[in-house]
Amino acid sequence: MPTVLEALKNRSSIRAFSDKKIPKETLEKILEAAGMTPSGANMQPWVSYAISNDALLKKIGDAVIEKMDAGVTNDQFIQYYPTKWVNPYKKRRIVTGAGLYKLMEVDRKDNETRIEMWKDNFRWFGAKTVIFVFTDKANIDNSQGVLIDCGAYMQSIMLAAQEFGIDSCPQGSTTEFGRVIAEAMDAPDNLALLYSVVLGYKDSSAKINSYQPERVKLEESVTFID
Ligand SMILES: Cc1cc2nc3c(=O)[nH]c(=O)nc-3n(C[C@H](O)[C@H](O)[C@H](O)COP(=O)(O)O)c2cc1C
Repeated sequence: MPTVLEALKNRSSIRAFSDKKIPKETLEKILEAAGMTPSGANMQPWVSYAISNDALLKKIGDAVIEKMDAGVTNDQFIQYYPTKWVNPYKKRRIVTGAGLYKLMEVDRKDNETRIEMWKDNFRWFGAKTVIFVFTDKANIDNSQGVLIDCGAYMQSIMLAAQEFGIDSCPQGSTTEFGRVIAEAMDAPDNLALLYSVVLGYKDSSAKINSYQPERVKLEESVTFID
């Protein structure tokens, strides 16, 4: 069983999964543990759908891909990525993307393959379970605090999963098509989709899963004041 530090350091985003399904009891344990995530005023603002139904996942994914093919770039409740990229974040984003495409031997200008790779998000990278995390629209009307809570909840899911040998990929790609997804899964009107997390058993033979983008040095992100 990994220690917390091991789980933190060994987790990485997995983008190719085996067919193996996660037992319901295991999913319950992961989500019960994630439910212990702290939140402001103990609001527990996350409203999650753990979908392991192949037909529904295909319906949701197909709905997004259909929109993409029609030229729609987003249809969302919240704007995840910055609308104006500044350094050093811009550079980190470019380096991370370029590293993945280099590993997969995809040319920078090969847009078609890159789009196909992005669409794999909506084929859930072959995983059999996806957790869709919503919050009540009222929670994000004029404030962003619950996004902090729901982000911590995301990490809790991914770390708890590690204990069971289950890997994950967080998805902001679904944030961008939140409204399409909410409609495809017939989610209640008061809910806004924030993100999803793909969960499953990794395909260890898949090259893409060897990608582990580096992090900046501690001094670059933390200022210690003694
Ligand atoms: C909120 C969030 C959204 C993300 N969205 C996507 C996504 O839609 N598709 C994807 O392949 N990876 C996505 N990622 C994974 C990041 O690219 C990844 O976490 C980052 O490059 C660091 O790599 P690592 O997770 O392997 O350590 C997302 C990560 C986070 C935290």
